[in-house]
Amino acid sequence: MIIARNLTMLTFAVAAMAATPVLAQAGDAAKGKTVFARCALCHDVKPGPKKMGPNLAGLFGRTSGTTAGFTYSPAMQKAKIRWDAKTLDAFLTKPSGLVPGNRMAFAGVPVAADRANLIAYLKAEAK
Ligand code: HEC
Repeated sequence: MIIARNLTMLTFAVAAMAATPVLAQAGDAAKGKTVFARCALCHDVKPGPKKMGPNLAGLFGRTSGTTAGFTYSPAMQKAKIRWDAKTLDAFLTKPSGLVPGNRMAFAGVPVAADRANLIAYLKAEAK
């Protein structure tokens, strides 16, 4: 009996440990807001007046280069990336690496934790 109970607890412990990295990657939206300051010159997370970059409202699940009323580069239109946490992480690491020839004049967010927080913010606010 005691062995069986300990095994059950062990199973829970392992399951909890397996879940931890996912939570760690989820990021902190409040911290991500400060990272978004690097983007805010060119982007908004809510619908609004036109800026230098496309509006990011409704970004998640959208195909790259498809916001109505924004003229994208041919590279961004041809990329046909479906934006989610994974593709955004790759793009924001080095925009010119994932979409060569795109017109976003931004080198990237090099620190992984900053990107995770930024993506959590985008997910919460731009959706
Ligand atoms: C100097 C202005 C500028 C800055 C700063 C900038 N961007 Fe952009 N961004 C653009 C432009 C312009 C495009 C469109 C690029 C193209 O068409 O090739 C773009 C495209 C994007 C796209 C693709 C959108 C779509 O509809 O497919 C995402 C996502 C994005 N930017 C996120 C960010 C984030 C997050 C930051 C901050 C870390 C950031 N950008 C910083 C100008 C900027």
